[in-house]
Amino acid sequence: MSHFLFGAATSAYQIEGAASEDGRGLSIWDVFARKPGAIADGSTGDVACDHYHRYSEDIALMRWLGLQAYRFSVAWPRILPEGRGRINPKGLAFYDRLVDALLEAGITPFLTLYHWDLPWALEEQGGWRSRETAHAFAEYAEIVGRALGDRVPSFATLNEPWCSAFLGHWTGEHAPGEKNLEAALKAAHHLLLGHGLAVEALRAAGVKEVGLVLNFAPVYGEDEEAVKRADIYHNRFFLDPVLGRGYPESPFLNPPPMPIQEGDLEIIARPIDFLGVNYYSRARVARGEGLYPVRYLPPENPVTDMGWEVYPQGLYDLLKRLARETSMPLYITENGAAYPDRWQGEEVVEDPERVAYLRDHLEAAFRAKAEGVDLRGYFVWSLLDNFEWAFGYTKRFGIVYVDYPTQRRIPKRSAHWYREWIKAQLVSR
Ligand code: FCB
Repeated sequence: MSHFLFGAATSAYQIEGAASEDGRGLSIWDVFARKPGAIADGSTGDVACDHYHRYSEDIALMRWLGLQAYRFSVAWPRILPEGRGRINPKGLAFYDRLVDALLEAGITPFLTLYHWDLPWALEEQGGWRSRETAHAFAEYAEIVGRALGDRVPSFATLNEPWCSAFLGHWTGEHAPGEKNLEAALKAAHHLLLGHGLAVEALRAAGVKEVGLVLNFAPVYGEDEEAVKRADIYHNRFFLDPVLGRGYPESPFLNPPPMPIQEGDLEIIARPIDFLGVNYYSRARVARGEGLYPVRYLPPENPVTDMGWEVYPQGLYDLLKRLARETSMPLYITENGAAYPDRWQGEEVVEDPERVAYLRDHLEAAFRAKAEGVDLRGYFVWSLLDNFEWAFGYTKRFGIVYVDYPTQRRIPKRSAHWYREWIKAQLVSR
């Protein structure tokens, strides 16, 4: 069990709040959340968990939990309110304080540079559809790398570029809310190019470990062609180029061209030190129709409050496959479940389904690890209930309940369970 870290994950826009404080610029999510109908409960991240002001209290919670690591993201528009150029020292100072407080608590910070909150000023210049945004991202990476790389050992460039590209530009469920496959494919390529350029920038800044966080959904089904297509879409589209294999064949019929320039694939394939794996569920598919001829089949097992099938075996299958195909050190950078938790003044919020979910997924992960998978850590999503993107505050993923009107934090049973589980693992080392 050496080298294994137990942690929890969050992201800036989902928890920080303080949206117009200390010189923070606007992000695409500030603007998107204000579009009528974009967010289920009409909410925004303006206040969220008020973590910007309550980070000390939240670190005390992490300490109580016995976390060894904490994965958070930096808000690009806090650091560079216009996306590039002018640096906002107060923005950097917040993460400086956060990192120092984590280190003081004995918790290793894992930093993600981009968890979806693109500065609005860059969106106005084309956002990820524009190649320039990849360069702007590398500049931002270097600034944060130089400021925090001396204390933060591990940097991830992007969180789930699949969501940024496809949910942001094709299905329109996420910011910036476009519905255009050509825009999505441009965004996908520029996100990856930005990743590659940022890897170089972070190395130049002296950052120790650099990685990338991708979301995966192992695909199951009878129809080979549908399985292959969905597998490319969910699991290979971003990974293959990063591994130096170039893009897989397109999962789309008659796809619009991608803006690949000479040398891009080499930049994208710059070696990284770890792969972050986000896993929530699997996909079951059959042949479908249209641009992306895949049909999703109904779950065979109970689902979470997101409607996502609970399928721990999928995590095991995924880890084994990634170990085989990438031979890279792996971290589970997100895994967890939403359930409709209620708090009525008790000391503990009972969430038996989440306890079972976490236990079964941790067991699946450890089974893979015992069979030789180079798994280095596990981060539960999420430390706190938070702003769940298009679902607003209607979905609760936290192991700690947040009573939004009072901002009180109440550990759920799953937090107590995780705490005991971590303790037991440390003893058995
Ligand atoms: C992932 C996101 C994270 C959270 C979970 C539920 O796709 O990275 O921010 O929303 O899903």
